[in-house]
Amino acid sequence: MEQKWEIRHKICMVTGANVGIGKETARALASAGARVIMVCRSRTRGEAARAEIIEQSGNDEVELMLADLSVQADVRKLAAAFQRQHEALHVLVNNAGAYFPQRTESADGLEMTWALNHLGYFLLTNLLLDVIKRSAPARIINVSSAGHTHGTIDFDDLQMRRNYGGFQAYARSKLANLLFTYELARRLAGTAVTVNALHPGAVNTNIWNNVDGLLGRLLRAVGKFYFLPVEAGAATAIYLATSPDVTGVTGQYFAKQKAVRSSPGSYRTDVAARLWDVSTAMTGLN
Ligand SMILES: NC(=O)c1ccc[n+]([C@@H]2O[C@H](COP(=O)([O-])OP(=O)(O)OC[C@H]3O[C@@H](n4cnc5c(N)ncnc54)[C@H](OP(=O)(O)O)[C@@H]3O)[C@@H](O)[C@H]2O)c1
Repeated sequence: MEQKWEIRHKICMVTGANVGIGKETARALASAGARVIMVCRSRTRGEAARAEIIEQSGNDEVELMLADLSVQADVRKLAAAFQRQHEALHVLVNNAGAYFPQRTESADGLEMTWALNHLGYFLLTNLLLDVIKRSAPARIINVSSAGHTHGTIDFDDLQMRRNYGGFQAYARSKLANLLFTYELARRLAGTAVTVNALHPGAVNTNIWNNVDGLLGRLLRAVGKFYFLPVEAGAATAIYLATSPDVTGVTGQYFAKQKAVRSSPGSYRTDVAARLWDVSTAMTGLN
């Protein structure tokens, strides 16, 4: 019989861990005695957050690894370096994400929201999948958003060359997080690796700083008072990483620590399978 899930001493990677929901998740995991790998893109910001987490948790098994997750070569270097240094990965929290008001392209020539928010999760997870499977029972947690309900996957213009909108690009990437989660769960059926997605709530973090115009100013003003503090915003990610109650639970979307339904379109298996193939081609995976 499988032993009760216990986060203590588990090796956990959290992306975007220097601030916001990722930092709070890393802090909680470190406080619970996990070995935490914080993935950040800035050494300065990453080291400052790491020092704070070590001090507050009293756990010095907190490590920093650097990668710009919108850059595929960086993701590959990160996955390779991790596997040189660690034999196991029990929890992967794909959290790093951003909102881009104007259309920009990544170093690989891909629309930035797609490159970071979707392909960043897809590539890193696939590169680490063998070590995750060897470490089973293991958990993959993808931070999506309720914003996915506004997203569409237009395979004819995934790069949004025709009509870019920051919200449309963001919503599309968060819908892709769900399609990826459900497809990966199907592919991992029969293994002891689970994969779930979550909506953290509307949380008062830096992500709103990039929303431009009147809407951005309004959201930031309202957000200060009405959005969740980051501690509450990280609660569902922490729950999915640490709770024995979700042992064996896979292919689900969580909000407020409960499995909930996502949009009808997110359950389209044909779209998910096609997205998998397209994402494989875009990342040069076999
Ligand atoms: N806040 C909300 O209300 C809300 C709602 C729904 C979903 N979410 C999701 O929650 C996740 C975390 O967002 P947050 O609200 O905590 O935002 P945040 O405070 O802005 O944190 C985002 C994290 O991602 C990192 N990041 C951004 N671009 C990166 C890149 N190219 N390479 C590596 N790391 C990068 C950031 O690093 P830097 O500090 O270096 O920029 C930061 O650590 C995102 O996936 C977001 O879509 C948030």
